[in-house]
Amino acid sequence: MLKRTAGVPPHAAEVRLWADLRVAFFFIASLLLLSAVALPGATQEKAAPPQPAAEQKPPAASTEAAAEPENNQPATYVGSETCESCHEDIAKAFKKNPHAIVGTEKRRGWEGKACESCHGPGSKHAESVSPTDIFNPAKAKPAAADRRCLGCHAGQPTQAGRIQNSHANNQVSCVQCHAVHKNGPNGLVPRTPVAINAQCKGCHNDIWASFQKPFRHRLPEGAMSCVDCHNPHGSALPRNMAVSFANEPSCFKCHGDKRGPFVFEHAPIREDGCGACHEAHGSANPRMLTRHEVRYVCLECHSNLPNPQSAQAGLLGGSPPPAFHDLRSPQYRNCTICHLKVHGSYVNRSLLR
Ligand code: HEC
Ligand code: HEC
Ligand code: HEC
Ligand code: HEC
Ligand code: HEC
Ligand code: HEC
Ligand code: HEC
Ligand code: HEC
Ligand code: HEC
Ligand code: HEC
Repeated sequence: MLKRTAGVPPHAAEVRLWADLRVAFFFIASLLLLSAVALPGATQEKAAPPQPAAEQKPPAASTEAAAEPENNQPATYVGSETCESCHEDIAKAFKKNPHAIVGTEKRRGWEGKACESCHGPGSKHAESVSPTDIFNPAKAKPAAADRRCLGCHAGQPTQAGRIQNSHANNQVSCVQCHAVHKNGPNGLVPRTPVAINAQCKGCHNDIWASFQKPFRHRLPEGAMSCVDCHNPHGSALPRNMAVSFANEPSCFKCHGDKRGPFVFEHAPIREDGCGACHEAHGSANPRMLTRHEVRYVCLECHSNLPNPQSAQAGLLGGSPPPAFHDLRSPQYRNCTICHLKVHGSYVNRSLLR
C-alpha cells in the first residue's frame, strides 16, 4: 500500500504546509488578540492542546526560523556547500540519500540548500560551529522534530502524515524509526521483514514474546512483519491496525476468504473483529484461538450465562444452542465439526455449510 505513493510529488505537501502555516499564523494571531482581552489563564488553557502550531515557543512562530535556537539576529541560509566544507563525510554520503533530490530541483524551493531543509538556516552555526546554533531533530522535542519532517511529508496518502497516533502521542518521533543519514537498502526505511521486526521489537519486546508461542504468525522466520498488520504512522482503526482496501482490517489482505460479503454473517466477525476468537500475534492454542478448545470459544457467547465480556447478555453474546445439543455427549463438543462455516456462510443460516 505504502509503496504506491513513493512517486507522489512532495511539492503538493509543501504547498499544503504553507497553507497550514498560514492557518497557524491566524490561529496564533487570534490567540494573541484573545489574550489581550480575556483572562490570561483561560487562554493558556486553550493553547495547551497538542496543536502543532501552538507548541512553537514565541508568538512569531509562524515562520520557519522560530524553531531555530533563539538569538537576537535570525540565522540565514548559507547553502549546502558551506555545510560540506566541514561535514564532508555526511555530505558525501548524502548524495545517495533520497533527500538529495530536495536540493537538486528548483520547484521545491530548496535548491542548493538540502541540508537546511531539515536543519534550518545555518549561518550562525557555520560561524560559531556551536551545536546549540543548529536544529538537530534527534535532540529536539519529538513534536518539533515531527513537525520538521511533516513540513514535507504531511498529507501523504501513506498516512505518514497522520500524527494522531499512539507513536506521535507517546513521544516516538519520526527520527526514532528513520535514521536520516544512514544509507543502504535498510538505512532510511527498514524494508525487509527482518529489519522491520528488529526495529519494532526494540521497544515492543513483550509483543515479540507472543510470536514465540506454538501457534503464531511466522514473524521470527522473517516471512512476515509487524507492518503487514499495523501502520506505524497511524490508522483509522484502533491499535494502529493497517487497513486494506477501504477501512477493512489488514487481515483480509491475506485471509480474503473470510471477507465475504456473506449471505449469512456470523455477527462477531463484523462487530467485534477477528480478535473476538483469535490472538493474532500468537497463542498457545491451535488456530491461534483464545481458548484451548473450540467449544469454550463458542460457549463464551452461546450459553445462557451472562457473557463475561459484556454485562448485557444477548448484545455481544449469541443465543444458547438449541436443546438437542447435548453438551455432555462428546459428539456435540466440537462445534466446528458441524458448524463448518463459522466465519460466515453463503448458503446456511446456521453456518453448517
Ligand atoms: C566551520 C565548520 C562548520 C560548518 C560550515 C558547519 N558545521 Fe555543523 N558542525 C561543526 C562542528 C565542529 C560540529 C560539532 C560541534 C560539537 O559537537 O561540539 C557541528 C555539528 C553539527 C550538527 C550537530 C549538532 C548537535 O546537536 O550535535 C549539525 C546538525 C550540523 N553541524 C549541521 C550543519 C549544517 C546543516 C551546516 C550547513 C548549514 C553546518 N553544520 C555547517 C562545524 C561546522
Ligand atoms: C531529511 C532531513 C535531513 C537532511 C536533508 C539533512 N539532515 Fe542532517 N540530520 C537529520 C537528522 C534527523 C539528524 C539526527 C541524527 C539522525 O537521525 O540521523 C541529523 C544529524 C546531522 C548531524 C549530526 C550527526 C551526528 O552524528 O550527530 C550533522 C553534522 C548533519 N546532520 C549534517 C547534515 C548535512 C551536512 C546535511 C546536508 C548534506 C544534512 N545534515 C541533511 C536530518 C537531516
Ligand atoms: C524539504 C522537504 C523534506 C523534508 C523536510 C523531509 N523530507 Fe523526507 N523526503 C522528501 C523527498 C522529496 C523524498 C523523496 C520522495 C521520493 O523519492 O519520491 C523523501 C523521502 C523520505 C523517505 C522515504 C525514503 C524512501 O526510500 O522511500 C523517508 C522515510 C523520509 N523522507 C523521512 C523523513 C524524515 C524522518 C524527515 C525529518 C527528519 C524528513 N523526511 C524530512 C522531502 C523531505
Ligand atoms: C514506529 C516506527 C516509525 C515511526 C515513528 C515513523 N515511521 Fe515512517 N516508516 C516506518 C516503517 C517500518 C516503514 C516501512 C513501511 C513499509 O515497508 O510498509 C516506514 C515508511 C515510511 C516512509 C516511506 C513510505 C514508502 O512507501 O516508501 C515515509 C515517507 C515515512 N515512513 C515517513 C515517516 C514520517 C514523516 C514519520 C514521522 C511523522 C514517520 N515515518 C514515523 C516506521 C516508522
Ligand atoms: C522507540 C520505541 C518504539 C518503536 C521503535 C516502536 N514503537 Fe510502537 N509504541 C511505542 C510506544 C511508547 C507506544 C505507546 C505505549 C504502548 O501502547 O505500548 C507504542 C504503541 C504501539 C501500538 C499500540 C497502539 C495503540 O493504540 O495501543 C502499536 C500497534 C505499535 N506501537 C506498533 C509498532 C510497530 C509496528 C513498530 C515497528 C514499525 C513499532 N511500534 C515501533 C514505542 C515504539
Ligand atoms: C497478524 C497480524 C498482526 C501482526 C503480524 C502483528 N500484530 Fe500487533 N496486533 C494485531 C491485532 C489484531 C491487535 C489487537 C487489535 C485490537 O485489540 O483491536 C494487535 C495489537 C498490538 C498492540 C497493542 C497492545 C496489545 O497487546 O493489544 C501492539 C503494541 C502491537 N500489536 C505491536 C505489534 C508488533 C510490535 C508487532 C511485530 C512484532 C505486531 N504487533 C505484529 C495484529 C498483528
Ligand atoms: C501477510 C499475510 C497475513 C496477514 C496480514 C494476516 N495473516 Fe493470518 N496467516 C497468514 C499465514 C501465511 C498463515 C499460515 C500460518 C503458517 O502456517 O505459518 C496465517 C495463519 C492464521 C491463523 C491460523 C490458521 C491455522 O491454521 O492455524 C489465524 C487464526 C490467522 N492467521 C488470523 C489472522 C488475523 C486475525 C489477522 C489480522 C489481524 C491475520 N491473520 C493477518 C498470513 C497472514
Ligand atoms: C466467532 C469466533 C471467530 C471469529 C470472530 C473469527 N474466527 Fe477464525 N476461526 C474460528 C474457529 C473456531 C476456527 C477453527 C475452525 C476449525 O476448528 O476448523 C477458526 C479458524 C481460522 C483460520 C484457520 C482455518 C481456516 O479456515 O482457514 C483462519 C485463517 C482464521 N480463522 C482467520 C480469521 C480471521 C481473518 C478472522 C477475522 C475476519 C476470524 N478468523 C474471526 C473462530 C473465529
Ligand atoms: C463473541 C461472541 C460469539 C462467539 C465467540 C461465537 N458466537 Fe456465534 N453468534 C454470536 C452472535 C451475536 C450471533 C447472532 C445472534 C444470535 O445468535 O442470536 C451468533 C450466531 C451464531 C449462529 C447462528 C446464526 C444465526 O443467525 O442464528 C451459530 C450457528 C453460531 N453463532 C455458532 C457459533 C460457533 C460454532 C461458535 C464457536 C466457533 C460461535 N458461534 C462463537 C456471537 C458469538
Ligand atoms: C452434530 C452437529 C452439531 C454440533 C457438534 C453442534 N451443532 Fe449447533 N446446530 C446443529 C444443527 C443441525 C443446528 C440446527 C440447525 C437448524 O435448526 O436449522 C444447530 C444450531 C445451532 C445454533 C442455533 C442456530 C440457529 O439458526 O438458530 C447455535 C447457536 C448452535 N448450534 C451452536 C452450537 C455450539 C456452540 C456448538 C458447540 C458447543 C454446536 N452448536 C455444536 C448441529 C451441531
